[in-house]
Formats: sequence, structure tokens, C-alpha cells
Amino acid sequence: MNITVVGTGFVGVVSSAVYASLGHKVTGLDISEERIKALKNSKVPFFEPGLEELLESEQNKGGLTFTTSYTDAIPHSDLIIIAVGTPSSESGEVDLRFVHSVVDSVAPLIKKDTIIAVKSTVPPGTFSELSKRIKSKTDVSFYLASLPEFLKEGSAVEDSLHPDRVVIGSSDDSVIEQLKKLHEPLGAPLIVVSAESAQMGKYAANSYLAIRITFINEIANLCEANGSDIDQVIDVFGHDARIGKHYWYPGFGYGGSCFPKDVKELSHVSKQNGDDSSLFSYITQRNTERIPKLLEEFEKKVGGFDNKKVAVLGLSFKPNTDDTREAPSLHLIPLLLEKGAEVQGYDPKASVTEFIEDTSYSEVSSIEEACEEADVIFAVIEWNEITSFDFSKVFKKSSQYFIDARNQFSSESIKKIGFNYIGIGKH
Ligand code: UDX
Repeated sequence: MNITVVGTGFVGVVSSAVYASLGHKVTGLDISEERIKALKNSKVPFFEPGLEELLESEQNKGGLTFTTSYTDAIPHSDLIIIAVGTPSSESGEVDLRFVHSVVDSVAPLIKKDTIIAVKSTVPPGTFSELSKRIKSKTDVSFYLASLPEFLKEGSAVEDSLHPDRVVIGSSDDSVIEQLKKLHEPLGAPLIVVSAESAQMGKYAANSYLAIRITFINEIANLCEANGSDIDQVIDVFGHDARIGKHYWYPGFGYGGSCFPKDVKELSHVSKQNGDDSSLFSYITQRNTERIPKLLEEFEKKVGGFDNKKVAVLGLSFKPNTDDTREAPSLHLIPLLLEKGAEVQGYDPKASVTEFIEDTSYSEVSSIEEACEEADVIFAVIEWNEITSFDFSKVFKKSSQYFIDARNQFSSESIKKIGFNYIGIGKH
């Protein structure tokens, strides 16, 4: 198939490379000259394991090219995949300006029956507006379909090559057949539903996971108050096949580019439907309050942060990415500085200095350096380099605190070194 993927952000680049690896002729299109120039040299402006290698090998094989020209790419495309950003506005409402701009550019250039599939996360109902816009610019037949994306940052290539399902949202038999054929080699279950269900399913998946995280954080709060241990509690309920033991790490709450945005969008849609107090609004509120509330608890335990030296290990929103969107570090560090701490941050790939301009904050290039004089060490993100580090190397005094904000360490081994250990929902 001739495929054009419009938008070479995170999802667009990964999808382009993966469809090319399945033997299709793929063109990645973006209006940014700078972005396309870099992609032609297999360079991406973010860190994602395995992606640059895949881009290089697919470009060398000749199946993957990049362009800024709609005129060159669109007329011969059988399938156009839209993978541009859908940020949320202040109110939580999704901002579809980039999707609209893509269809406005694509429509006058289509020359034959073309499938226009939307990978960007958009709410059900979006296709009627898209359809109107396209029809106003062309008489050629086109078919809108939904192809929601479920990849996770940090394991995006792996997730895309081995997805746990591929969702095809369409009601047209020929489109369904073509999209099934395209995805069959991935060996994943193909879920064929209406476009609206595919779109709603994506919001439901992300907000359910966000709810799960909020739930386990609140159970952890109770464990702290009543003497139970969160790991043991997860063991008890996780054996229930309906619940499962995975994806239950309590911590500083959910971040990243998807969960906060998608939950806010559902909250907005619920409000539009007359429900001002939906579960989704409440989840957002609880997640936003999470870091300030936890920090107050930690402050009591460590005897205040004023004049303390604090090491913050892990600045990205999760491991194996340099993405800092809605990262816990961006909320935690300013609060620590407000409370009078001097903070040294370390991350294997990410940096937050452009967002935190305060002379009491600095970033260093190793865990050792960050912890050198630290009265309190925060292990925030479970990068392998951090969880496998031998913290006995940086232990100095029995008044030092080790805050295991993702419950990645054995409390016994940290206590054995001599630190005062603080976990989440642990004693
Ligand atoms: C998520 C979805 O998982 C993915 O399917 C969708 O396509 C995009 O959004 P991503 O944002 O990359 O992917 O990261 P994910 O690993 O799911 O983590 C999201 C947030 O939840 C992170 O802040 C993470 O730290 C937090 N989290 C995750 C927890 O706090 N506890 C957990 O048990 C799991």
C-alpha cells in the first residue's frame, strides 16, 4: 500500500517506521522543514529506545521517505493516516485545529478513492465535521476510519510491532478488509468496531488506567494510616483474575501526554452532557492534589525541608523517555524550593532546567553527584540506572532519608545501609 502518515510527532514517526517495516511504501509528512530534515538523517528530537535504528534501516531499505510536500505525497496515497497532536484547551475540551488543518490540506489533493484514517485521539462525533470539511473541497470519494493508537512512550517501537490489539473503527466492508490486511502481519487480535466506539474505547482505556492509578494511590494512603502494607494488599486483591496484579505502582500520580489530557476531555464531555460531578473530574482533582499532599506528609516525616539538600532522581514522566510533560519532577521540585530546600536533579535523559529557573535548583550528571551532600534522596522515576544503583555508595549519616516514591526498593535493604526509608503505603 502507498501510505502517507501526516504528523511526524511521536505517534507519527513510530507508525511510519512500523508500516514501512511491514513492506509498505510509507511517506512521513510534516510541515516542519527542520523536523523532516532531521528525520531524513534518522534523527528524532526525543529519546525513544530503538526508534532511530528502525528509521535508519527502513530508510536504507527504501520503503520509508519523509517530505514537507502534500502535493507530492497525497495524490498517489491509498491510505492517509492522520497523527497530529490533539491538545486540550483550558476547559479540557479537545483542540482539533491541527486535525482540521490536515484534512483541509489533504482534501483538494486526493485523486482516487482514499482511506483517511485518524490515529490522533479525537472524541466520537469528530468525523461528521471532518467529513463536511473534506466534501467542501473535493468530489472524489473518501472513507474516514479510526485507528486509535495504544503505544506507550519508552516502549513505543516494541508496542507497535507487537500490539496487544489493533482497533479498526469503520463501517465500510472494503475499508475494513484493507485495514485488516494491513495489520494482520502484526499477529494481534483485530477488533473491528464503529469509528465512534473505537474513539470512545481509546478514551475509556486511558481513563480507566488513570482511575486505577488514582485508586491504588488512595489505597496506599489508607495503608499508611492503618498499618497495612501496599505490596501485600496488591498481592491479596491482584490474585483475583478480574483485577490482576499488573499496573499497580502507587506513586506521585499519573503524568505524561495522554492520561491527564484524556481524563480532562471526558470530564469536559460529561459536563456538556449535564454531569458536573463526574468521576473523571474527581480523578483529575485527586491526581492534581497528589504531590502537594504527599509532600506535606514527607515534610513531617523528615522534619521539614528548609535548608535541606535534596536529591531528585528521575525528571522525566516515566522511565526510558526524555518527555517531561506532566512529569512529577515539575510539580515536586518547585514545591521543595518553596519549602526552602536546595535541590539537585538527575535524570539519564531528561532535563527540566528550562522550566525551573531558580538558583537553588541545579542539574548534575550522575546519581553520585546528586546525592553527594543530600539530606533527603527522592527516587522518583524507576529508570533502571536508578533502581539498580548501589545507594550504599552515597550513604553518609544516619539522619539521611530515602524516599522511594515508586516503591521500587526493598525497605529492608535501604534501612540496612543506614537510611531512614519512606515508601508509599509502607512502613
Ligand atoms: C499511556 C497508555 O498506557 C497508552 O496505551 C496510550 O497510548 C498513551 O498513554 P504513556 O503515557 O506512554 O501511555 O505511559 P504509561 O506507562 O501508561 O504511564 C502513564 C502514567 O501513569 C505515568 O505517569 C506513570 O508513571 C503512571 N503510572 C503507571 C503509575 O503511576 N502507576 C502505574 O501502575 C502505572
